[in-house]
Amino acid sequence: RTVHAHSGAAELGPYRHYMQKEIFEQPRAIADTLEGIEGVNPEIFGAGATAVFKDVRQVLILACGTSYYAGSTAKYWLESVARIPTSVEIASEYRYRDSVPDPHTLVVTISQSGETADTIAALKHARSLGMEQTLTICNVATSAMVRECRFAFLTHAGVEIGVASTKAFTTQLVGLFLLTLSLAKVRGQLSAGQEAEHVRQLRHLPAAVQAVLALEPQVIAWSEEFASKENALFLGRGLHYPVALEGALKLKEISYIHAEAYPAGELKHGPLALVTAAMPVVTVAPNDQLLEKLKSNLQEVRARGGELFVFADGDTRIASAPGTHVIRMPEHYGVLSPILHVVPLQLLAYHTACARGTDVDKPRNLAKSVTVE
Ligand code: AGP
Repeated sequence: RTVHAHSGAAELGPYRHYMQKEIFEQPRAIADTLEGIEGVNPEIFGAGATAVFKDVRQVLILACGTSYYAGSTAKYWLESVARIPTSVEIASEYRYRDSVPDPHTLVVTISQSGETADTIAALKHARSLGMEQTLTICNVATSAMVRECRFAFLTHAGVEIGVASTKAFTTQLVGLFLLTLSLAKVRGQLSAGQEAEHVRQLRHLPAAVQAVLALEPQVIAWSEEFASKENALFLGRGLHYPVALEGALKLKEISYIHAEAYPAGELKHGPLALVTAAMPVVTVAPNDQLLEKLKSNLQEVRARGGELFVFADGDTRIASAPGTHVIRMPEHYGVLSPILHVVPLQLLAYHTACARGTDVDKPRNLAKSVTVE
């Protein structure tokens, strides 16, 4: 394992931990990852990608942890924008599962470190089943994963020191959206106008993320309340359900508060029994086509005395009220909205952990890269 020598305080600049620094580096990391991207060109994944992308019939994503939640987000994009059937598997499950292969599959691995044993093993398992078209979204050019895959997209997040992944996640999403657009284009699902609009949205992402980072003081105020909690429930719907899962993982792994995420529509199928005033319910509330459904889910929580903490797009008209705390996000950002909505959840986990005094950059029992089973 290469342990990066850090000069400690000097490198942290105005930040208290590497995780906070890396959260605030996201605009720059996204801009660096988009460097040189002019339009939609499959060949950015490697020579010959265009022909392979034309031939594949489905996508199989293999990853662990936060990278798995990036893949879960990408599934919504790949099916709605590129119209390609997509499955996402937890690597440690897939590697031992008796699955049914299709040789016309593009196998996509997602890994910040490129050294995660389960993900490498899952990739080899897929190849042993005859699926030879492999592509990785990775943050380390010299990693095993990049060597093992035929195609690669390198995120340019820079070295990520905090065990809890932040800038790697958002730059993975940028890579996965570029993959979505590339597959859409070669499959005739992307008009020139749509291409131009999506590229414009990508280019504006660093500024949009910068604007969301300005919400930090409001999130700090919430984190002081969260620090005394022992449980939390995260809710999201559709494209933002994986963001809720990622937010719950962040809180779990650095503050040690038990947190879980649910698709908001599932509340009445069980989790509602958990809801009391003692368990904060964090909700990702984009102004998308599921908003009205989400609002009725929030009323279900309030009716049981649950306390809501809602990150609402500026144009949702969800108002603060007793038992309903709201932090207003910018206007709805469209299909790239998950990249914005994860940022306040990263900040909530970070500041809650600080308030609880845990070792934020090196949380107990965890390693930055899980290179063993
Ligand atoms: C996320 O914050 C954790 N550090 C962990 O879940 C991580 O995402 C997972 O171990 C996968 O690591 P990788 O992206 O390097 O493969």
